[in-house]
Amino acid sequence: MKAIIPAAGLGTRFLPETKVEPKELLLLVDRPVIQHIVEEALAAGVDGVVIVNSRSKQAINEHFSPDSELVELLRRRGKEALAAMVEHAGSLPVSFAYQDEPAGLGDAIHCAAQQVGGEPFIVSLGDVVLPDPAVLKRMVELSQEHDGASVIAVVPVPRDEVDRFGVIDGVDLGQGVYRINHMVEKPAVDEAPSNLAIFGRYVLSPAVMEALGHAKPGKGGEIQLTDSLEEVLAKEEMYALVIDPEQGFDTGTPLSWLESNVALALRDPKLGPPLESYLKGLLEK
Ligand code: UTP
Repeated sequence: MKAIIPAAGLGTRFLPETKVEPKELLLLVDRPVIQHIVEEALAAGVDGVVIVNSRSKQAINEHFSPDSELVELLRRRGKEALAAMVEHAGSLPVSFAYQDEPAGLGDAIHCAAQQVGGEPFIVSLGDVVLPDPAVLKRMVELSQEHDGASVIAVVPVPRDEVDRFGVIDGVDLGQGVYRINHMVEKPAVDEAPSNLAIFGRYVLSPAVMEALGHAKPGKGGEIQLTDSLEEVLAKEEMYALVIDPEQGFDTGTPLSWLESNVALALRDPKLGPPLESYLKGLLEK
């Protein structure tokens, strides 16, 4: 099974930073956000990662390309650990597809249709990090347990924030699994069917790729993934797996990116202790 990482968006919420630096390459503790996502998918057992990129974000391709000159220079200077890191980033099994213009998430995913070749596939959003690959593995298992049905990760959010997310309406089957009845994009707080927000990881059946192939622009004039999921939901069962909010990190806005960096750095054995005492000192002032 292949994983698609859509990474061709404009990243407007990070401007002016994203004038030149793709938001998917922003640093998350020790490596770019998108490298965490590629490594998570590989650790979950996918047999290839397709990054959907924009022609104007070549830095993403460069990050995943070998750089023997830099590796040799680092080795000559005795910096073996750094050389190994650079070599590793350039050796990850990623391939690229291109989206000509940012016409929406659904359109971006469909740009990788050929590489996926009619098989079930994973979609991992390019700004959402899930450090534990067990979640994605469990989603794939759940899909297999239900005859290849699509499975979507959801996270509980505070009730008064549901209007910022896609929210599911479903039947609780226990053990964090829901059978989805319906999905609503950014519902009004008092009309939301639940507080379970769609969270950046999808295991999708080939019918979803087919639906994306004839999808029409929806909200905001963009091809929306949710519209095609709704279309498929009319003929195929679909499930949701609830993930613990502490397992997932959204890096898509300046505030959530800062929070994700702090939360994950605090878990890091080297950075955690000094960062914690720095933060404590800062907060005591
Ligand atoms: P976002 O909506 O969070 O990213 O899409 P964005 O559009 O780049 O950000 P803002 O709203 O302008 O700040 C989630 C992921 O989907 C990709 C993005 O690159 C991001 O990783 N995406 C989005 C595409 O690949 N193509 C699109 O047309 C839209």
